[in-house]
Amino acid sequence: MLQDYLKRNITYVRISLTEKCNFSCEYCLPGGWDKKLKDTLSVNELDILLATLKELGVKKIRFSGGEPALFKDLTKVLEITNHKYKFESCGLTTNGFNLLAKAEEWYKAGLRNINVSIDSLDPKKFFEITKVDILDKIIAGIKHAIHLGFNIKINAVILQGINTQDMDDFISFANTHKVTIRFIELMQNNTCTVDYLNKRQLTAETIIEDLKAKGWTLDNSEDPKLKGPAQTFKHQDNLGKIGFITPYAQDFCSTCNRIRFSSLGEILLCLFGKKRIPLRHLLTLEKKEELKAEIETLLISKPKSHHLDENFVGACDNLSKIGG
Ligand code: 5AD
Ligand code: SF4
Repeated sequence: MLQDYLKRNITYVRISLTEKCNFSCEYCLPGGWDKKLKDTLSVNELDILLATLKELGVKKIRFSGGEPALFKDLTKVLEITNHKYKFESCGLTTNGFNLLAKAEEWYKAGLRNINVSIDSLDPKKFFEITKVDILDKIIAGIKHAIHLGFNIKINAVILQGINTQDMDDFISFANTHKVTIRFIELMQNNTCTVDYLNKRQLTAETIIEDLKAKGWTLDNSEDPKLKGPAQTFKHQDNLGKIGFITPYAQDFCSTCNRIRFSSLGEILLCLFGKKRIPLRHLLTLEKKEELKAEIETLLISKPKSHHLDENFVGACDNLSKIGG
């Protein structure tokens, strides 16, 4: 089992498959993606990485991006993760642009958990944020995926003055669909600067207090080894759940069970760490044991915590580069 010097067990690895994204969310890729991007990992390299992580005791893999559904071999990689290495849990974080077309294929490849990023359920606001006008198609994809048996979470970044009046829309969506809606506090990075944060950032605290007053209670049913960073609430009259990801809260990092890989094969010990350490040169069959030893050694020095409160964002340009 992978462990750091604070004895945090690392059972969850997030792998970015590409830095490309076909949306231009104003807090992430306001000008769209960098068209000069370098080659991403191949299916063979990803296979070796997944084999190594499995041997290191990792239980949960999540693929992200950029937009991971733009990675042309996504289905093949899902098959390897689920059918070849049989990880306990495999998830995909997507903007949902082709969910309707691909859900069935991904289900057959063993995928069961999909997180879809939707910051507003109002088509006009959705367009304002992402600069694409396909909210209806994404919602149809979500309904189809629920019908197929997927476990669906919707991620909404809290954007002061844009979606903060829409919390009831999300809650009523959760009331009629079996989904978890997770509100994410806006995080600073080199794109989402202090100026933008001053305009749009709002802590989740007031929304949490509101929910508690309406009878929502903490839900502790998730296995800690497989659990993401959200605090989740349930309500007896509501089919869905509501969660919060609050990176600025005290102690957020003490239960961190995650590390990340970039689409170029670099390891990130913390989303807001100083370094991305290149490991692509070890992604060959002959070097697999060396890769294993290197990950174990590097992991010992996983930072205790991020320093967002001091406005330190490390190597985090924006989340499209390292998969959120
Ligand atoms: N702060 C918080 N969440 C962000 N995301 C992208 N950029 C930020 C940011 N600066 C979210 C996306 C998506 C997930 C991958 O990360 O909206 O839900
Ligand atoms: Fe794309 Fe997600 Fe960034 Fe939006 S937040 S531009 S969907 S990577």
